[in-house]
Amino acid sequence: MNIRQLLDSRVSQALIAAGAPNNASAVIKQSNRPEFGHYQANGVMGAAKQLKMNPRELASKVLEALELDDIAEKVEIAGPGFLNIHLKMEWLSQQLELALSNDKLNINQVDKPQTVVIDYSGPNLAKEMHVGHLRSTIIGDALARTLAFVGHKVIRQNHVGNWGTQFGMLLAHMNSLKTSGEELSMQLSDLEGFYRDAKKRFDNEPEFAETARDYVVKLQAGDEECLALWQQFIDISLQHCDDIYSRLNVLLTRDDVMPESAYNDDLADVIKDLDKAGLLTEDQGAQCVFLEEFKGKDGKILPAIVQKSDGGYLYATTDLAALRYRHNTLHADRILYFVDARQSLHLNQVFAIAKAANFVPQETQLEHMAFGTMMGKDGKPFKTRDGGTVKLIDLLTKAEQRAFDLVSEINPDLSEDERQSIAHTVGIGAVKYADLSKNRSSDYIFNWDTMLSFEGNTAPYLQYAYARIQSIFRKAGKIDSSVPIHLNEPAEQQLGVKLLQLIEAIELVVKDGTPNILCNYLFELAGNFMSFYEACPILKAENDIKNSRLKLAKLTAKTLDTGLGLLGIDTLDKM
Ligand code: ARG
Repeated sequence: MNIRQLLDSRVSQALIAAGAPNNASAVIKQSNRPEFGHYQANGVMGAAKQLKMNPRELASKVLEALELDDIAEKVEIAGPGFLNIHLKMEWLSQQLELALSNDKLNINQVDKPQTVVIDYSGPNLAKEMHVGHLRSTIIGDALARTLAFVGHKVIRQNHVGNWGTQFGMLLAHMNSLKTSGEELSMQLSDLEGFYRDAKKRFDNEPEFAETARDYVVKLQAGDEECLALWQQFIDISLQHCDDIYSRLNVLLTRDDVMPESAYNDDLADVIKDLDKAGLLTEDQGAQCVFLEEFKGKDGKILPAIVQKSDGGYLYATTDLAALRYRHNTLHADRILYFVDARQSLHLNQVFAIAKAANFVPQETQLEHMAFGTMMGKDGKPFKTRDGGTVKLIDLLTKAEQRAFDLVSEINPDLSEDERQSIAHTVGIGAVKYADLSKNRSSDYIFNWDTMLSFEGNTAPYLQYAYARIQSIFRKAGKIDSSVPIHLNEPAEQQLGVKLLQLIEAIELVVKDGTPNILCNYLFELAGNFMSFYEACPILKAENDIKNSRLKLAKLTAKTLDTGLGLLGIDTLDKM
């Protein structure tokens, strides 16, 4: 059930009955003050303007036409023509009962399910995953979960980089180690170090650099021995990614990997078809696409290069091929790219070219869900103490360690195993939530202390709120489900309305790719619960009231668990 949607359709109907045009919209908003009711309809003023009518006059006509008795206690005209809607508590409590007895909280599936491709994570397999991949992986995954929850068909695509010149030097290094008899998977267990060594040799040993370049040519020509070596490297590197994904509780599996190399055979056709569409221009031997809409500061068009003068293809060429695949084979209605904001020109050029060349139809939604850089406390890009990139695996280990120390301090009596398991859930949850709760498009300052705090808008705070409710149930025993929910106290009413608003947060996440809206909702919900818990004793209350309050607590726990689940964060019964 979606209150906002329901009110929207009822009030819009009344607006039209009162003479407003057929496309008139009720503009329903949650009220921010209880005295203004629970919801406000702000659409009367706009409609009155169109009708050249006094807005308060139109508002009273709308009131006459409005059929809301089943849902609302009263509807008042306020200010220049707002409608303040006070919901009926009996109706609300019925809705709460429905949410409680339904495993999806009685949240409707969307009317028009779309096929949504989500491009996220996409690490470069030449190196180990580092903090730069964290945001894409976490935010993209939250969207994959949330879109699926409301009924869209989600196809995850992990566009990993596994092709290109770097692999020449890696293969050369691999081969020389192999011929000197060293154990390969051991060598590759530290991918980062392996890359560094290969690079050092590439820069300092001319003979090695020569071999490396040979390997690139051989690889691209499909030389079998070379491909086998490359495949071996890719497998080990992907295993590193899988370890991270499972540690992070991210949905990505091997089935979602659609690497750059998968598009190799299509690249020549992409160029051919761009040419046919009249979009190619040769510039200093390279094939480029010039589109008016992309201009630099100097007013000159910024070209997108799709083929180098030596015939080699580029990142953009592969992305165009990927778009064709996503349209022709995956039948995507909407494609979301969770990619660093610094790639915004690249992606927008790719989108525009794909549409200009008719690789995808105009109506396909192509959206760059850009995010800012992860910064250290000093406001500079997050680095190790000696200025290197931070390996993701090290960051996660540290998060778990810090959480372990914290849990041991609060709960020294729990067994070591229990504390380890709690530390995993809290530590990983904290890292993910800290990222998800920030406005995606800004840079984000990584701070261990705030993310692991039990106060404020953090995962531990929400996990703790959930665990606290579970502890109430351990004391309360069974709920008598035949006793209805009563919403008498203001704190009960406020919590009751809030509990039914999860879907409104989800809708915004789905539309804009902004999980921070869901985080905010959960934080407010936990706050409402805490106020309720203080104002309305549960265990000490009389039988019926006690049951009703236990039901509210139960639905709060269920909503927190569902909401955190959409963010890919687990809850705990004990902390
Ligand atoms: N591999 C790229 C990188 O590390 C990210 C891939 C993003 N997806 C895409 N379709 N371009 O920057």
